[in-house]
Amino acid sequence: MFTYTYSGQKPSLLTTQTGWKNKLMLSIQTTQLNIPTGMIDLGIGQPSPSLLPLNMLDKAARHRLSQADPSLLAYGAEPGDGFFRLALAEWLTKHYGATVNADHLFVTTGASQGLDLICTLFTQPGDTVLVEEPSYFLALRIFADHRLKVISLPMDNDGLNLEVLEAALAQHRPVFLYTVPVFHNPSGITLSATRRRRLIELSEQHDFLIVADEVYQLLAYNTAPPPPLISFDRFGTVLSLGSFSKILAPGLRLGWLQGQPALLDRFINSGLLDSGGGLNPFTSAIVRRVIESDSQEKHLSQLNHVYRQRAAALSSALHRLLPKIVTFMEPNGGFFIWIQLPETIDVERLLPDLHRRHINIQPGVKFSSQGGLRNYARLCFAYYDIEDLAEGVARLARALTQMGHT
Ligand SMILES: Cc1ncc(COP(=O)(O)O)c(C=O)c1O
Repeated sequence: MFTYTYSGQKPSLLTTQTGWKNKLMLSIQTTQLNIPTGMIDLGIGQPSPSLLPLNMLDKAARHRLSQADPSLLAYGAEPGDGFFRLALAEWLTKHYGATVNADHLFVTTGASQGLDLICTLFTQPGDTVLVEEPSYFLALRIFADHRLKVISLPMDNDGLNLEVLEAALAQHRPVFLYTVPVFHNPSGITLSATRRRRLIELSEQHDFLIVADEVYQLLAYNTAPPPPLISFDRFGTVLSLGSFSKILAPGLRLGWLQGQPALLDRFINSGLLDSGGGLNPFTSAIVRRVIESDSQEKHLSQLNHVYRQRAAALSSALHRLLPKIVTFMEPNGGFFIWIQLPETIDVERLLPDLHRRHINIQPGVKFSSQGGLRNYARLCFAYYDIEDLAEGVARLARALTQMGHT
């Protein structure tokens, strides 16, 4: 029997011991996740399947396919479908509180792909990039693929510490700074408006790009965050990553890059686009209908309603059930609560015990580019409903207490 340590990911091959099954048998894998029966996995950072709008996409796809317009099946325009970009620009303008021009948008197959393409086009192996500590752990994986040198900078409650950034800029010449300025993954922190302005000035003075991963900008549950970092851009030094993964469905693999046309030209004229044409024209055409029919708007307000309740439920369960040694900031948006435990606790080492008690959390060390943050963990409130969130926290609390962490 194939055995594996639970990591929230599926093994891709299964073996069994009997009869013809003795041979290697390919498991039919349909999604990225495989949560063992009975496990509550607060480590995963995705919407629940029940929040994925099948009917809405069914309607939009039927509408688009009934238009007798074969263009959505042709190679796409390099910046992305023009009508889709117009619809997206208008919709973002309404939500961002700042004008978004369709010419400043480039369609991607998601924020991850946008980030990967930025690395391809702007960096060489060995180049330096700056990140926050903690940082979105899968962005760190992309930087490792491109063999970039990563230097991390601390954050406080107002976001990235700009004094430390300035000190780092005196020593290093980074190609770009990767930042999650709003409802940060994993910390939940939002960069203040004052720091946004200063960061833009620094990027111009020290000649580096800011790659702003703003995928959580529209998921705000209390007060609205400052406008996106891209709307503070004065010198053409910002590239903003947006995505339908968090506001519609990750399986669509659809997102966008926003930046000055001079920057976007690098993408439009890249070999990838020259050869394959604009990215994801078929899905863009369908999602254009989702936007134009107002369905995206309704879905976003439904998501905000559900996530607001789930964020409050997770926070209240943590307050009620966890030992006082655990501290955290109230969630205002995004998907996550970042908990801090005493420095003597290494969350990664707790995992086997937690898994035996059918609970998983994401250990802080994954979000560190220096092997630190071991006494932190990321909990997600987007995947589970209120009852499961409370049950998950109850299991975590029991486990910590029984391990003597009170
Ligand atoms: C900060 C951040 N960026 C990017 C992604 C991935 O986005 P996409 O599905 O658009 O590639 C995630 C998903 O968890 C995320 O949290």
